Amino acid sequence: MQYTILGNTGLKVSVAGLGCGGNSRLGLGSGGTDAQAVDVVRAALDLGVNFIDTAEAYGTEHVVGQAVAGRRDKVVISSKCRSRNPTGPISGADAVKALENSLRLLKTDYVDIYHLHAVAPANYEHAMKEIAPALLREKEKGKLRHLGVTETGPNDPRQEMMARAIAEPPWEVVMFAYSMMNQGARRAILPTAKTRGVGTLLMFVVRNIFSRPTALKQAMADLAVSGQVPAEFARSDAPLSFLIHEGGATSLTDAAYRFVRHEPGVDVVLFGTGKQEHLRANIDSILRPPLPEADMRKLRDLFGKLVGVGLDLPDAVRAAAKA
Ligand SMILES: NC(=O)c1ccc[n+]([C@@H]2O[C@H](COP(=O)([O-])OP(=O)(O)OC[C@H]3O[C@@H](n4cnc5c(N)ncnc54)[C@H](OP(=O)(O)O)[C@@H]3O)[C@@H](O)[C@H]2O)c1
Repeated sequence: MQYTILGNTGLKVSVAGLGCGGNSRLGLGSGGTDAQAVDVVRAALDLGVNFIDTAEAYGTEHVVGQAVAGRRDKVVISSKCRSRNPTGPISGADAVKALENSLRLLKTDYVDIYHLHAVAPANYEHAMKEIAPALLREKEKGKLRHLGVTETGPNDPRQEMMARAIAEPPWEVVMFAYSMMNQGARRAILPTAKTRGVGTLLMFVVRNIFSRPTALKQAMADLAVSGQVPAEFARSDAPLSFLIHEGGATSLTDAAYRFVRHEPGVDVVLFGTGKQEHLRANIDSILRPPLPEADMRKLRDLFGKLVGVGLDLPDAVRAAAKA
């Protein structure tokens, strides 16, 4: 494993971080058991991953609590509270209550990083004025070590909330989307993060678009219709196969992780999975050298201006919305 220092927090973290949300939710999202999910976390720890990202909303905090028992001090735990409930933005007191519940499920008396989860641009002022001060008081008590904020990819494709959060206190760590076909953060977020010493966590690096061929095909078809990618991409069943060759990527997910990993300002690349074989493959990819420069250039030229591509809501949320 390779390790880096997470911005100005001083935390030494693995460059590959296990994400316990998304569609996988450590396998719970596709019918896996708690015991299998615990095994995925433990396998990640055994391979040197020390950064684990979970959240109130994922329903995986109890799994992380079980998996890290006995080695809590070797693990950097990142968790989050919802920034809204069905009636509107949560209060500072609600956030403190959520933190207490996370600590109980995680079986710990502190979280290393506690985020406000999926803050939309319209809720940012409230997050700053109402919720952050309440959580900073908990930080003084030692219940959280560092305060963070995450964006809502599907509802904020232009990353407006993050463009504000990255530029001002109190956020010490931020989580945002960045991928081969969603490259806006390279200009709008990463340079400021680096200058200000804010720790960065990448999400939506693979998601559906680079793990489900049908999702990539649909995205290319939509982009070709609006003239944002050449029409031949929509006609191909494997439009990104040019990345897979001797000396290049070994698979599309390999390309996706290697594209983001080496960008200046990136600290931790999150990957979500419920499968042991994907866990190993993803760690290998994140630890490999950058893609060949010609492939990097082609990806920047072809997709550097796209906005909000590959930012699906979790399948369960989409299904509930349709019901
Ligand atoms: N707003 C927020 O705060 C927010 C939003 C989104 C995500 N996140 C965090 O970021 C983490 C990762 O992001 P993500 O869930 O968006 O997506 P991701 O990790 O980029 O992609 C995960 C998807 O790709 C599949 N996959 C993983 N490795 C694979 C491989 N080697 N080959 C083929 N398929 C593979 C997974 O299914 P399998 O189970 O089959 O491997 C899963 O469906 C989440 O777990 C969560 O911690 C935070």
